[in-house]
Amino acid sequence: MMDFDILAEPRNQADKQALLQEVNESPFIGQMTLHELDHHIERKSILFFYEEDTLSAFSAWIPFAKDWVELGPFFTREAYRGAGLGKRTVISAIDANRALGRNMYGVTKNDVMKHIFTKHGLAETPLFKLPQPVLQYLVVKTNPARIVRGLQKLKPNEKVAHYIQIKDNSAIEAEHGSSRS
Ligand SMILES: CC(C)(COP(=O)(O)OP(=O)(O)OC[C@H]1O[C@@H](n2cnc3c(N)ncnc32)[C@H](O)[C@@H]1OP(=O)(O)O)[C@@H](O)C(=O)NCCC(=O)NCCS
Repeated sequence: MMDFDILAEPRNQADKQALLQEVNESPFIGQMTLHELDHHIERKSILFFYEEDTLSAFSAWIPFAKDWVELGPFFTREAYRGAGLGKRTVISAIDANRALGRNMYGVTKNDVMKHIFTKHGLAETPLFKLPQPVLQYLVVKTNPARIVRGLQKLKPNEKVAHYIQIKDNSAIEAEHGSSRS
């Protein structure tokens, strides 16, 4: 397994531009603007994976409501796919947010991502069974332009699936209990 440096921001501007271009050509991921990428960097909700000088992947997340986070987007550059890097990016995002006691939500139409989410403890959940904070979040973030962009990229046989992982309250209570003692 290759060794990766995990950084909170890209090493330079050119890496950022090249990454955005590849992301926006990918059929599986929503458009990402420079502004969105910079916003992730500012609020420290993104990790960049470097193999030596090459930016190979990133994982990001979006906090919403109280104690909730949307995991994603995740992106492994094509040359690095299928070697376990996507899994590592997801585990890093889960670990960062679990440490903050957050419930997790993920949505994807990519079968590889579905496999990784399931393998790492997220449960596929029908839209109508999603918890209230997630449904409210989806209503707010779903604007007409986003729906059109999503439908343009969706192929007839693809199915969007939703995943959640509710935080382990007992572990969190135990942590709080031990910090009080
Ligand atoms: C999704 C993505 C991040 C995965 O990255 P990756 O580095 O190739 O992933 P990994 O190599 O870590 O994991 C692949 C896993 O999926 C499995 N897999 C591969 N093809 C699969 C398929 N068609 N269906 C289901 N599982 C599949 C592999 O067996 C492996 O699982 P395992 O470790 O249990 O054997 C990458 O394909 C990507 O960037 N895609 C474009 C953007 C995207 O779709 N992002 C997700 C939207 S948020």
